[in-house]
Amino acid sequence: MQTPLCKISPSILNSDWGDFRGSIQMLEQQGCDLIHLDVMDGHFVPNLTLGPDLLKHLSKGTTARFEVHLMVSEPEKWVEPYFTDRTETILIHPEGVPHVHRILERIRELGAKPGIVLNPGTPLNALDWVGDCIEQVLLMTVNPGFGGQKFIRGMLPKIAQTRDWLVRKGIDATCPIEVDGGMNLETVPEALNAGARIFVVGAAIFMADDPSKAYRDFVRLVTK
Ligand code: DX5
Ligand code: ZN
Repeated sequence: MQTPLCKISPSILNSDWGDFRGSIQMLEQQGCDLIHLDVMDGHFVPNLTLGPDLLKHLSKGTTARFEVHLMVSEPEKWVEPYFTDRTETILIHPEGVPHVHRILERIRELGAKPGIVLNPGTPLNALDWVGDCIEQVLLMTVNPGFGGQKFIRGMLPKIAQTRDWLVRKGIDATCPIEVDGGMNLETVPEALNAGARIFVVGAAIFMADDPSKAYRDFVRLVTK
């Protein structure tokens, strides 16, 4: 029986940087239609990654859609450059950002789903006044900046409390919880049981001996 709304969102951060398009096409051949794009500015997190021109380039020759995870200090500057006809969701961090509500509304105006991302140490009250303009909550289960890190198990109660918050707000059906960081074949079921429905998986797919089989294993795990 398929668990409603469950989805694997592969992060290409740990894929072969010399062949992003090949990695995406491999995933598409396995039925994948959503790619997680980790954007880092070297200021919000100690790493610098995938620019907007790369997204435009990757959109050619693939049919995948993208969820853009903006790990940047000034997300208002980057929403439009990363909005393309393939951008499904734009996920912004509220930490240190003065106009979160306005940026989320701008994302929706553009035609993408607005998502908010909470770092492991960020309390849930960061959600309090944006419930009317979010369509996804991404809970970081590692400290952001790099793939291949260990799942922070202490985030499991945060997933459950977020689910309870969404239910109280009456938006749990339209605003799924996504988790990001340290997802593997052991941690995905734990996060699923706690209430997560979308799972970013990076290293556990692209560092596997057979990434296409690894992707299929994850899909089977959340849709059995
Ligand atoms: C980390 C990124 C994650 C990361 C996930 O800052 O936001 O998306 O790439 O990779 P794994 O699954 O390898 O932890
Ligand atoms: Zn991410």
